Amino acid sequence: MQIINVRTGRPYTVKIENGILSRAATLIAAGMEGRHTVIVTDDNVAPLYAESLRADLQAAGIRADLFVFPHGEGHKTVDTVTALLSFLVEKEITRRDFLVALGGGIVGDLCGFAAAIHLRGIPFVGIPTTLLAAVDSSVGGKTGVNLNGLKNQVGAFWQPSLVLCDPETFRTLPAADYADGMAEVIKYAILFDPALYKSLLGDFDLCEVIAKCVDLKRAVVEEDERDTGRRQLLNLGHTVGHAIEKCSGGSISHGKAVAMGTVLVTRAAVERGICKENFTASLQKLLLSHGLPDECPYPLTALLTYMKSDKSAAGMRLRWFYRERSVIAFSTRSRFPSFPHCFRRRICYDCYRFTRAPASGCDQRTRVEIRRAPRNHRGGTRRPYHKHCIIRALLRHARNARLPFGNGRVLHACGGRTDRHTDR
Ligand SMILES: NC(=O)c1ccc[n+]([C@@H]2O[C@H](COP(=O)([O-])OP(=O)(O)OC[C@H]3O[C@@H](n4cnc5c(N)ncnc54)[C@H](O)[C@@H]3O)[C@@H](O)[C@H]2O)c1
Ligand SMILES: [Zn+2]
Repeated sequence: MQIINVRTGRPYTVKIENGILSRAATLIAAGMEGRHTVIVTDDNVAPLYAESLRADLQAAGIRADLFVFPHGEGHKTVDTVTALLSFLVEKEITRRDFLVALGGGIVGDLCGFAAAIHLRGIPFVGIPTTLLAAVDSSVGGKTGVNLNGLKNQVGAFWQPSLVLCDPETFRTLPAADYADGMAEVIKYAILFDPALYKSLLGDFDLCEVIAKCVDLKRAVVEEDERDTGRRQLLNLGHTVGHAIEKCSGGSISHGKAVAMGTVLVTRAAVERGICKENFTASLQKLLLSHGLPDECPYPLTALLTYMKSDKSAAGMRLRWFYRERSVIAFSTRSRFPSFPHCFRRRICYDCYRFTRAPASGCDQRTRVEIRRAPRNHRGGTRRPYHKHCIIRALLRHARNARLPFGNGRVLHACGGRTDRHTDR
């Protein structure tokens, strides 16, 4: 069994093992005996796994009820949450009790959100049954639902109490949904782990790959639980990906759109001479081998229109496109030993933009330094900084010291926290 401890505000454990679902009730009961639970799931997953889990929980001394809602993004809504909350009231679920999210990312997001707001928060256990949920949505505590056609417009940060992942459940998953999960796995490999990237080109142990991805996400989430900085790295390929999803009117799934988005971003990085040319070909080969598209059917101009017309965030989104391009350069340069000299510029490790100075080789000496970096600032003083990062650092320092500094405008001007990008 692979075990990963996530040390967020409320720590929890992720356990990954083939067949763990059959032991889930025992594992859950270990901390929750005598309590009452509601298993939340969708109508595809319910007939496959819900009844046996319910019977196991009952046998382990946990009274279990079942709430099933129709599958699909169209039902990830406030209405479904309201129905679930009414069900929880009807079943007299108290703060001592808990929920179980049995299903893909939609079930996890919706159930987690209901858990976050029912009686101002009750525990929930995640049992992801899609690859995407296993490697991405079940870890990190982002919960929420859609509103007025806007994805994840309403939500909360609410960490699960336990996550149990059984990769055997993916056997019943349609191939297209499985491929969507692989797009996120490839994203982690590009961002953080060249060995994982290589292993994906050949045979690999799925449990190990999931554990690796969960561990990579754990590290990012522990550092930036509220998604104000480093966690935004996980949006690689997503700015363009979201535009592709919109362009297709929803017919291209999230994973496939992200795959296309990553290729576009990589190509842009290559065109600017900041990423080695052969990286695009290698990425395309990897995507194709996992049943993912390697080309975007829409011209960049069409995508830009969507990015521009995207609510009030137009400017930010475009900026994000450029930042993503930088991120790919950053990750390929610093993480791929075989690409050590492919970048002509240095990257700022705080905002992932480029410094003006051309880099010589892999030397990462700083050009601009702040002498006394804030104590908790990643990277200390030995990394290159942009001027605006120095401003950010000073602002942070000022806040800690309770100095009367303005925030919004200055932060915005220096590409800081107002420049948020909502994924999922
Ligand atoms: N919270 C986060 O951090 C985060 C991260 C990424 C994505 N998300 C969200 O996750 C959602 C997408 O998740 P998803 O890709 O898992 O989609 P999903 O939950 O819709 O699952 C995909 C389909 O597979 C079915 N299914 C699930 N498990 C199955 C199984 N074992 N066998 C057969 N069928 C099964 C579902 O009923 C559904 O029809 C989106 O709403 C996205 O916003 C959230
Ligand atoms: Zn994604």
